[in-house]
Amino acid sequence: MTHRRSILLSAMVLAVMSATPAWAQKKIVVGFAQVGAESEWRTANTNSIKETAAKEGIELKFADAQQKQENQIKAIRSFIAQKVDVIAFAPVVNTGWDTVLKEAKAAKIPVILTDRSVETKDESLYLSFLGSDFMEEGRKAGRWLLEKAKTMKGEINVVELQGTVGSAPAIERKKGFEEIIKANPNIKIIRSQTGDFTRAKGKEVMEAFLKAEGKKINVLYAHNDDMAIGAIQAIEEAGMKPVKDITIISVDAVKGAFEAMMAGKMDVSVECNPLLGPQLFAAVKDVVAGKTIPRRIVTQEGVYTMDMAAKEFPNRKY
Ligand code: AHR
Repeated sequence: MTHRRSILLSAMVLAVMSATPAWAQKKIVVGFAQVGAESEWRTANTNSIKETAAKEGIELKFADAQQKQENQIKAIRSFIAQKVDVIAFAPVVNTGWDTVLKEAKAAKIPVILTDRSVETKDESLYLSFLGSDFMEEGRKAGRWLLEKAKTMKGEINVVELQGTVGSAPAIERKKGFEEIIKANPNIKIIRSQTGDFTRAKGKEVMEAFLKAEGKKINVLYAHNDDMAIGAIQAIEEAGMKPVKDITIISVDAVKGAFEAMMAGKMDVSVECNPLLGPQLFAAVKDVVAGKTIPRRIVTQEGVYTMDMAAKEFPNRKY
């Protein structure tokens, strides 16, 4: 190659590089600290994050915190030490994040919250929150019960299976539900306890509810499908019929809930969409490219009842 031609070639390469956005020139590295693997929802969420990162050519450093805040904090510190481009995480509980978030800020690493938010006085500690509106999910469950209550006589006794103590979905799904049901004084929450979002705990706590209240229970409100499915087992083992004897209201709308609805064992599941990967990595690319991203990105969700389940089931992706 002549000297002139090689200069021309280098100039062309340089021109192409400067026309290429920064994020396309080097592999983006993202550290993601996941809550754990406590539910069908969480598995779908993890798969969505991993699959989208691979599809987008983003290097993902993934940590499973096994539902422990200290593990998430450790993982975030290790992402800071590794100088990742962006940190994302689904906080297991609402509070106690300020110190580690300040460390990320000092290291100039932007943080995106996914699925659950945090409580902090310093809003500058994270860039954006992408996920569901848990209050609204609780309200949707409450509105469904208000309608159903029109067909029920006398006192309506509800038992509630809460999610992980101190987590945003447990706090807000409870609040949203209570806000709506207070319109009907016949509806009363007679027992409320955590089932930690797992099937095993949901079953165990429902067994205790049944022992204490027996046939007085008219409605189960579970903060997620896994706990509802565990509770359904407990109800059947106690010789009662879910739906017929106890109305079952749940949240997530994962495939397991659709199967339960199609089997006539669950009345309704309010959708909580776990497929956050595409929105998360679109936001990550924008951040790395220096673009501004919205402070709050809300996912669109519906409500699925027993009579809709069979028709909708083939379309479900999780
Ligand atoms: O934060 C979302 C909640 O966490 C889902 O409803 C639940 O299934 C999960 O474990």
